[in-house]
Amino acid sequence: MTAEEQPLSSPAAHDGRRAAAEAAVNDILQGAWKARAVHAAVDLGIPELLEKGPRPVAELAAASGADESALRRLLVLLSTIGIFRAEDDGETFGHSGLSEVLLPDPASPVATDARFQAAPWHWRAWEQLTYSIRTGKASFEEANGTSFWDLTRDDDTARELFNRAMGSVSLAESRQVAAAYDFSGSRLVVDIGGGRGSMLAAVLDTSPRTRGILLERPAVAEEARELLDGRGLLGRCEIVPGDFFTTVPDGADLYLIKHVLHDWTDADIVAILRRVHDAMTAESTLLVIDNLLDDRPTASTLCVDLLLLVLVGGAERSLAGFTALLAQAGLAVRRSFSCGPGPLRLVEIRRAD
Ligand SMILES: C[S@@+](CC[C@H](N)C(=O)[O-])C[C@H]1O[C@@H](n2cnc3c(N)ncnc32)[C@H](O)[C@@H]1O
Repeated sequence: MTAEEQPLSSPAAHDGRRAAAEAAVNDILQGAWKARAVHAAVDLGIPELLEKGPRPVAELAAASGADESALRRLLVLLSTIGIFRAEDDGETFGHSGLSEVLLPDPASPVATDARFQAAPWHWRAWEQLTYSIRTGKASFEEANGTSFWDLTRDDDTARELFNRAMGSVSLAESRQVAAAYDFSGSRLVVDIGGGRGSMLAAVLDTSPRTRGILLERPAVAEEARELLDGRGLLGRCEIVPGDFFTTVPDGADLYLIKHVLHDWTDADIVAILRRVHDAMTAESTLLVIDNLLDDRPTASTLCVDLLLLVLVGGAERSLAGFTALLAQAGLAVRRSFSCGPGPLRLVEIRRAD
């Protein structure tokens, strides 16, 4: 009798279900090792080394400075889960549909995120997840002896990895937001914590009479200047290096704050929002653009929620959660709507007073 043929109440059926459950949990546990295997391949530059076609392990080992036997074991494992393809000789590896996604590409959220996740300081923070769950605080600082924001200010490589990962997500989202929201009525738009500038660039592209200000940390502000200059938009915008806890430019028609508030604690969010409130006129609008937790968030959205806790002590929030924080800063929701099929939402806000 096969496992499927056993009566459900029989001990054999119970054993079958138990075995299936154990296999499923084992697969989840080994997921961490599989992810590490991908990180190692990316770290060694294997996707790039295979860009022009399949190559023998010996060549890949020499080119990447890896131990040949250990690299073979890594690639055999990865090829069994669809990342890279083993040739029949078992010695030559090439790209598969899945591994091609790992080729360096500034527009690819997966390629840039794989490199961001592979960084030792990133993984060290996840090692201390239990600390974050016990304390409600970012494990990043506990694990690395420095905060995420300090590391990405002081270390050029860390900043580059983070900005590339964020920039690729932002590139696609910015087009999505620019298609969903009419910016043409806004004379002046301020993007608070605007990253490398792709959101502001999308706004200025779709709305030729609008002028923009991008507020960012100094090192990132310089990168935004380059992007906006490259898109021929610098004539219509100003880059303001600064700190949104202390400086928010006054009197714009529209303030954007995209994927910024979720990086902070409730108290910090209220402090930032109070700054924004004070900069707004009675006619100004604030547009919060973030992944809101709806009734049925996906596991992917919830993974990002934990990532925010681990890296920066932040959290994804529901609309009700944001509404309560906005109220503490004298702001009120006018309307909120989704932007495409994912969890990204636009929340339009005005001064409550
Ligand atoms: C998660 S990223 C979002 C970037 C951009 N808005 C986007 O959607 O791609 C958060 C941004 O906030 C910036 N940031 C963090 N702390 C800041 C501060 N105190 N003042 C200004 N910008 C800050 C970071 O440099 C980073 O670019």
